[in-house]
Amino acid sequence: MCGIVGYVGAKQALSVVVEGLRRLEYRGYDSAGVAVVADGALSVRKRAGKLGSLEELLGADPLPDSTVGIGHTRWATHGAPTDSNAHPHVDEHAQIAVIHNGIIENHAAIRQRLLAKGVHFSSETDTEVVAHLLAHEYPSTQGDLAEAMRRTARQLDGAFTLLALSAADPDVVVGARRNSPLVVGCGLGENFLASDVAAFISHTREALELGQDQCVELRADSITVTDFDGNPARARAFTVDWDAEAAEKGGYDLFMLKEIAEQPRAVADTLAERIGSNGQLQLRELDSVSSRLASVDQIVFLACGTAYHAGLVGKYFSDHFVGVPSVVELASEFRYREAPLGDNTLVVAISQSGETMDTAMAVRHAKESGALVISICNTQGSSIPRESDAALYTRAGPEIAVASTKAFLTQVVAVQLLLLQIAIIKGSSDDLELKSMIKALADLPAQVDLALDTVEPARQVARELVGAKSVLYIGRHVGFPVALEGALKLKELAYMHAEGFAAGELKHGPIALIEPGVPVVVIVPPMGSPMQIREKILSNVAEVQARGAKTVVIATAGDEEAEKVADYLIRVPLTPLLLQPVVATVPLQVLACELATAKGHDVDQPRNLAKSVTVE
Ligand code: G6P
Repeated sequence: MCGIVGYVGAKQALSVVVEGLRRLEYRGYDSAGVAVVADGALSVRKRAGKLGSLEELLGADPLPDSTVGIGHTRWATHGAPTDSNAHPHVDEHAQIAVIHNGIIENHAAIRQRLLAKGVHFSSETDTEVVAHLLAHEYPSTQGDLAEAMRRTARQLDGAFTLLALSAADPDVVVGARRNSPLVVGCGLGENFLASDVAAFISHTREALELGQDQCVELRADSITVTDFDGNPARARAFTVDWDAEAAEKGGYDLFMLKEIAEQPRAVADTLAERIGSNGQLQLRELDSVSSRLASVDQIVFLACGTAYHAGLVGKYFSDHFVGVPSVVELASEFRYREAPLGDNTLVVAISQSGETMDTAMAVRHAKESGALVISICNTQGSSIPRESDAALYTRAGPEIAVASTKAFLTQVVAVQLLLLQIAIIKGSSDDLELKSMIKALADLPAQVDLALDTVEPARQVARELVGAKSVLYIGRHVGFPVALEGALKLKELAYMHAEGFAAGELKHGPIALIEPGVPVVVIVPPMGSPMQIREKILSNVAEVQARGAKTVVIATAGDEEAEKVADYLIRVPLTPLLLQPVVATVPLQVLACELATAKGHDVDQPRNLAKSVTVE
């Protein structure tokens, strides 16, 4: 949510910054802006709309050459997405420019104070107060912009990543972070600051993860990190394990299509080295917490959006293999409940970005309550794994399309690995069954590859559904979270009304929505699943069909009973029931993508959304 980039080095800053913004546009695309320092003056260009609008402006009104710059792509919180609310914001004398990701919670009080001093504001944003505060602090620091930033940061409440430039110092960019992400890219004779490593990955893979309440002064040949009081501080160094190509479209029209196609590899990478050639699990990341895992007596899955659906799949898996009580909580709700947590509670926080504010705050609350926190995350250098006791990284690679695809599949796989490991440590499950599930997991990449054969059939079904006003999704057992995920994808991308239901709940209300022609997508458990689940959902399909629904049935190849109740049939490969979400979700992703494309929507950047939601 809001992408920020800073650069100091020998190159033209503008092209580095705009290239970085292009890679961060998934974080927000309401407006974009840049600032550089040249000949002792700041130059700013900013414009409402996507990055392309800013590029048009830069073409018509170019910036002077400069080797220092900052840039921002916005997801509006305070103030409409207009030119004047776009970042960067400058002080009254246009000496300092600032960009911001997050929310300054005490901005109203600071604004009042500054207004009383006669300061003139030019935007409705919470961010602008920072530009004026920096300008007030700067003169008494002997030209030390980092010190002005520290003094300013100490006055702010809320969540912020801030970058600032001063007209008086053409060699430096400063940054500060609290509760929002900021990583440093370490180059040779050049350095970078960004919300996410994607912004600088084409220049360097060496990075530093800034800690909470840290400030950084970036020069071409030095990086100085302190806390907000000016004491030297350490930032954790890491090497990014993917390259720039991974964040390109690679010949696909859409990032989403590329990311759907990458799913077999993403699942394979997430499993790699975690299942040994002897069929044993080896999750070294959990070594430091294994004794605590032995005494876990409750599991709480915390997540938002698609990641929440991965948590729901986890609950079924946990009930089967671990056998301790478990709940799945929306992070935004959990944080403000008084959920009883103890030392033996395991909190599993699931987040692609590792930055979702609701999940990050829920993790903090869980840690404070004494729970053991393990995160499942896709992004190195992000906050949630840093604040967890241990982290299991999914290895989906960069996911750029706002709607999550490959991250979801790898989250489900990682949750399953974690729960199997707990089952082994606790001795809570039958050895043979564990072995057979580990073997089935090891076979999953090939099954996901086969699931890509559903792309064409799903496209054909999408063409039939273009005129639908509403689409319902039903499933039982792990098919229920798949139904929720399918419906979420359709809402996000095609802006169509869609709802996922537990099929058993139909008769308690939702069946009233069925009228002739309403499409109902049904996830039928694979053959070999317990008969009660299969039989019951097949009756549910018959019930909606009898009322005129058009059924889109997702079923295992060769499932003749399912074929009988299908108006449209999409066949997925055979897996054990507990692994079916990993293959059954694929055609639902394609269905939503195709419907959105047919309606002319921007699939990779749906309206009103952002990929990484760093506000509550
Ligand atoms: C946003 C995205 C969703 C994502 C959710 C949680 O709403 O649009 O696709 O599932 O955030 O994100 P996380 O990074 O925590 O998995």
